[in-house]
Amino acid sequence: MRSSSSDSLELQTELLLTIPRPTSSCSPLEYSQRPVCKIFIAGISGTNLDMDKLVIRGGNPLLGTVRISGAKNAALPCMAAALLTEEPVILENIPQVHDIETTRKLLAAMGAEVELGYGRAHHRTTICARTLAAPEASYELVKTMRASTLVLGPLVARCGHARVSLPGGCAIGARPIDLHIKGLERLGAKITQEHGYVEAVVDPLKGARLRGAEVVFDRITVTGTEDLLMAATLADGETIMQNCAREPEVNDLAALLNAMGAKIQGAGTSTIRVKGVSKLHGARHRIIPDRIEAGTFIVAGALTGGDLNVAGCDPAHLTAILQKLAETGVKTAVKADSVRVMGDQPHQAADMNTEEYPGFPTDMQAQYMALATQAEGTSIITENIFENRFMHAQELVRMGANIKIEGRRAIVRGGTPLSAAAVLASDLRASASLVLAALVADGETIIDRVYHLDRGYEHIEEKLKAVGAEIRRVGNIFPKRAAAPAQS
Ligand code: EPU
Repeated sequence: MRSSSSDSLELQTELLLTIPRPTSSCSPLEYSQRPVCKIFIAGISGTNLDMDKLVIRGGNPLLGTVRISGAKNAALPCMAAALLTEEPVILENIPQVHDIETTRKLLAAMGAEVELGYGRAHHRTTICARTLAAPEASYELVKTMRASTLVLGPLVARCGHARVSLPGGCAIGARPIDLHIKGLERLGAKITQEHGYVEAVVDPLKGARLRGAEVVFDRITVTGTEDLLMAATLADGETIMQNCAREPEVNDLAALLNAMGAKIQGAGTSTIRVKGVSKLHGARHRIIPDRIEAGTFIVAGALTGGDLNVAGCDPAHLTAILQKLAETGVKTAVKADSVRVMGDQPHQAADMNTEEYPGFPTDMQAQYMALATQAEGTSIITENIFENRFMHAQELVRMGANIKIEGRRAIVRGGTPLSAAAVLASDLRASASLVLAALVADGETIIDRVYHLDRGYEHIEEKLKAVGAEIRRVGNIFPKRAAAPAQS
């Protein structure tokens, strides 16, 4: 181990390791003072996680059982909700993915105590925001994860002020946060934007408290609904939110908030009513299963002609996905908390439009496209939520797919065999579609920029390997001091 300044090698990687706490009796304070070591590694192959690639040899049917993790997109707002109380919030079934790690860092940087479960409790995170020294989310963290803007509502509701970096665009579209801002303004926050940050302040003469109001969202937004829902719990009076997102993740957040003492009705419908309370308390909550991870594995089972039991999911959240797959001829057997997919039938093309929940999720569009490349006939896939979410199409074409993009529509002529290639992942769900395509391609596909996948899929290669996929992760092999200038 050596320090940054004493090292002039170019291929230097910084890994921030969090040492797990040794016993479950460790207090939040002890935890917050835990040793954190920064390790600098120079020129060693396979250590720079950003450089990791997945190598997949296609052709194996997936057989057996795969267990679904907690939903990343439910866990993220629930972690932000912990900012609303001084008491500990204990969250179970938190997936071990990078976006969660980023959120832990974000909350800790504000002064919250973040405690990770140890051993068998490693899917538990306890957050205690007793004091919030810095109600701020810096660019450094927000730029890596847009969902960081979820702290805006809770911070301004709890502290009367918040400063959060604007996230900027991303690979799937512009993704503004104007609807979060408009909503908070309706609740009485004064919002300014300067130097890339949005600053929200509530008048201290009004007790620094937001006040309830009627808010109609111009369009449906998932994190916008969640942000405002959290803010409204501590507002003075009643908030009525209309045209809300109805995603199960919004419902899960409302369940946590109600367990913390909030008074929310109507979550899961397009009108949500919130009676503000003066204080929230701690709670324990289990995060719902990840419906997108479940959908991804169901498509994997179908595509590979396997027989896969996707266990620990909630089929009620998968209705649109299962219905669309049935249309393509995919056979499934649904139980209370599992879906068995039997992929031994040929698949037919079926058009698909992405919609807000309960419609077909945009987060499954790329995976559906991988399936459509192997179905008989032409499928027209229309992306209605994000304007630029077809980046995977060109990579699939490089593997032999026949796809033409016309604005928001992708025309997929199916039934073309896929052959292995070196491909580039551009975002989380695009990466998943490339993994699916690789599982049926002829030869060894190399998927670059796997860090996108690691943001949202827990242990994906271990899970796939356990049901028969031939998959391995490799790092870049750099010669030591490869690109470094000559040293005197
Ligand atoms: N929009 C605005 N203004 C806003 C907010 C949204 O114009 O203030 C637009 C967006 O640009 C988009 C549409 O409204 O065109 C819907 O965006 P939404 O706000 O619903 O998306 P999000 O809340 O930023 C969440 C998920 C996404 C998922 C979308 C849609 C989380 C953390 N993220 O994003 O998940 O695709 O809803 O369902 O919940 C993923 O997991 O890979 C992912 C991208």
